[in-house]
Amino acid sequence: MSKSEMVVNGEKYDAKDRVRADRTDKLYEHIPEGEPLVRIENLNVTYRTDEKVTLAVDNISFDIKKGELISIVGPSGCGKSTILRCISGLLQPTSGTIMIGDNKCTTAGSDRGMVFQDFALFPWRSVRKNIEFGLEVAGVPKEERRERSERYLKAMGLQDFADARIHELSGGMKQRVGIARAMIMHPAVILMDEPFGALDAQTRNILQESLVNVLKNSSRTIVFVTHSVDEALFLSDRILVLSKRPATVHKIIDVPGDRPRDRTAPEYAQLRSEILSYLHSQNTMFD
Ligand SMILES: Nc1ncnc2c1ncn2[C@@H]1O[C@H](COP(=O)(O)OP(=O)(O)OP(=O)(O)O)[C@@H](O)[C@H]1O
Ligand SMILES: [Mg+2]
Repeated sequence: MSKSEMVVNGEKYDAKDRVRADRTDKLYEHIPEGEPLVRIENLNVTYRTDEKVTLAVDNISFDIKKGELISIVGPSGCGKSTILRCISGLLQPTSGTIMIGDNKCTTAGSDRGMVFQDFALFPWRSVRKNIEFGLEVAGVPKEERRERSERYLKAMGLQDFADARIHELSGGMKQRVGIARAMIMHPAVILMDEPFGALDAQTRNILQESLVNVLKNSSRTIVFVTHSVDEALFLSDRILVLSKRPATVHKIIDVPGDRPRDRTAPEYAQLRSEILSYLHSQNTMFD
């Protein structure tokens, strides 16, 4: 065996095939853009506590295509976060499978990056150091870390705050740090659970535009949970519309138009009223 070869689980690998934790998207390079990267099949989740049994997700199947942004909308409490937690590997489904490429997803892994609504940033680190955190853990050399964080600081409009501490930032800025920190790792799939939910409408629009900007230059696979139908229409390639709990798939909608989109275009107004009228039929409040 040559020096650059190694054996993992009985299989022979060439050292050049090893994938760094900061570029897990490369694990799935063999899957073409637009083909299924994640396959969710017959997913069921039942929560059991001492007091009650809650069926949260009822036999859901859908694909996440490589390079797409797919939004999940559905009534409050229907099971959106539950589905996301299953994809992240933090929650084991009661039954059903989730495949990422050819691998069954059973635990959390660096091929799935998560953006949390409550920021989950490190208060003792600067903005730059927060963004570089995963790269540091992955052992990326300092110069490369710097060069990469510089790009994300710029894309997210944070370049003047690189050395600021987290408590000096507004909510919208904190959320940008959270997004940059996930994006910089190039995970195969990025999972976002209402990332802009806590922000005012204007900040929210700006952050949506920042996200569109990043996507213009770099293909990403993103699952995006939101309460806002307008946000889903502005950002998504497809929208998965769920029923009230237990979540079932009502419909998967292909959203027309390249990004950046004109929020006021009539085709979106039509889709908006179609989705909203379904959500209202599920007896919940929606904006
Ligand atoms: N850890 C848990 N233990 C017990 N029940 C839970 C747990 N997590 C969620 N649930 C229940 O599962 C259902 C779905 O919850 P989930 O958080 O997935 O909904 P959601 O669609 O994300 O809601 P929201 O829009 O309000 O964020 C709810 O009825 C909730 O009470
Ligand atoms: Mg939720």
